[in-house]
Amino acid sequence: MESNSGISLTESGKNLVNRLLDTRKRELELISDLSPEQLLGSKNRVVEPPIWELGHVGWFQDRWILQNIDKFPPADDQANSLYDSFNIPNDDRWNLMFPSLGQTTEYITDILHRIIDRLEGRDPTEEEIYFYTLALNHEEMHSETMHHIRHTFGYSAPKLSVERVPPDIDDNFELGDIFIGGGAFQLGANKKQGFVFDNEKWVHPIDVKPFEISNTPVTFSQYLAFVEDDGYQNKELWEDEGLEWLERSGQRHPIFWQKDENGQWQWRWFQEWLLLSPFLPMINVNWYEAKAYCKWADRRLPAEAEWEYAASMSENELNEEKGIYPWGNSHPESAQANLNSLTGGIEDVRAYATGDSRFGLRQMIGNVWEWTEDIFNPYPGYVLDPYDTYSEPSFGQQKVLRGGCWATRPHVIRNTFRNFYTPDRNNIFSGFRTVKK
Ligand code: AVJ
Ligand code: FE
Repeated sequence: MESNSGISLTESGKNLVNRLLDTRKRELELISDLSPEQLLGSKNRVVEPPIWELGHVGWFQDRWILQNIDKFPPADDQANSLYDSFNIPNDDRWNLMFPSLGQTTEYITDILHRIIDRLEGRDPTEEEIYFYTLALNHEEMHSETMHHIRHTFGYSAPKLSVERVPPDIDDNFELGDIFIGGGAFQLGANKKQGFVFDNEKWVHPIDVKPFEISNTPVTFSQYLAFVEDDGYQNKELWEDEGLEWLERSGQRHPIFWQKDENGQWQWRWFQEWLLLSPFLPMINVNWYEAKAYCKWADRRLPAEAEWEYAASMSENELNEEKGIYPWGNSHPESAQANLNSLTGGIEDVRAYATGDSRFGLRQMIGNVWEWTEDIFNPYPGYVLDPYDTYSEPSFGQQKVLRGGCWATRPHVIRNTFRNFYTPDRNNIFSGFRTVKK
């Protein structure tokens, strides 16, 4: 795909076109090797059919750009009855008659061409930039979803046309707690930050008490000790809802774990079974599992405000400027955070020293998402953004995760970004770090 040559685009227009093309390339690469059966998948409560995901990202662009800004009718008559995520529950997404891969690709490509055409040769207005960026963020989030769908179904790891960038591991780094003095804090996004979602708006004062937080996410070896100490059998470690989940799910160990013939635990990564490497971060745990681990370790999960304080502040009390990222305000580089699928998976918790927060916490951005204690709720003065079903239906229902993971696209993540899932979800790329009690 190329933009019409000879027509000059403004800088913001050019950036948007490049990002749109790059994001679409990623989306298509993520499904390019799947068979027709794999594209449909099999009914599963926590994922969508890959073919649905593909049509949905195009539908979203049509909905928020061509229909919303230009008042065009839907690009396809049937699309609303297939891809409208809010009105078609997960259960129904398995019973739909999907167009072929060819037809679906044609549908989303046609919409992408139309929205690139309308960017060319004119300055996008602020409103247009907002909706373009919204559609981009949406497609980028869905590219992460496509990774966890492939992982959940046990498909092969995606082969992406990215240059693999393995990180430097800092063998001397000692895992431990970092003391944070806390104090008055401005939680949330400020208006200078660029695109943010409604649930991040806006900064508001909150008092953070002193706390001690681990400098890395919980590792496989730390979590293994909990499993081996009968963590999943000891009911005292689970609170009411967690115990209900434990009994309902029948899980007696982490999802995607099994013992090999020698009694050694293995974990499944996409379609491969691997031995547990001690310094990889624990991944694919839900909020209940994180809570049970904390109870066992006599620790607790960080509050959202504590997490954001540790990620964005510094020891220097005079420094009131929150950083957008743990290291400051510069866009993530591959040496700073495990993002964007550049490594193909999770990495050692001692890696990425150059991305340390100013308090010395490692990997607050990238590698694994981190569960926090908090229920996903609006900040004071919350106002719905135009895409009014993004956050609001999940308030009060879900738990907040922070920090992004190895498959998160760099433009989507920042210290103030709040992800949210129900507390039973463990097929997402979720881990956690803990706080001293
Ligand atoms: C914010 C990642 C939980 O995938 O359900 C995509 C993002 N919302 N389409 C999700 C989203 C609508 C959302 N998460
Ligand atoms: Fe969506």
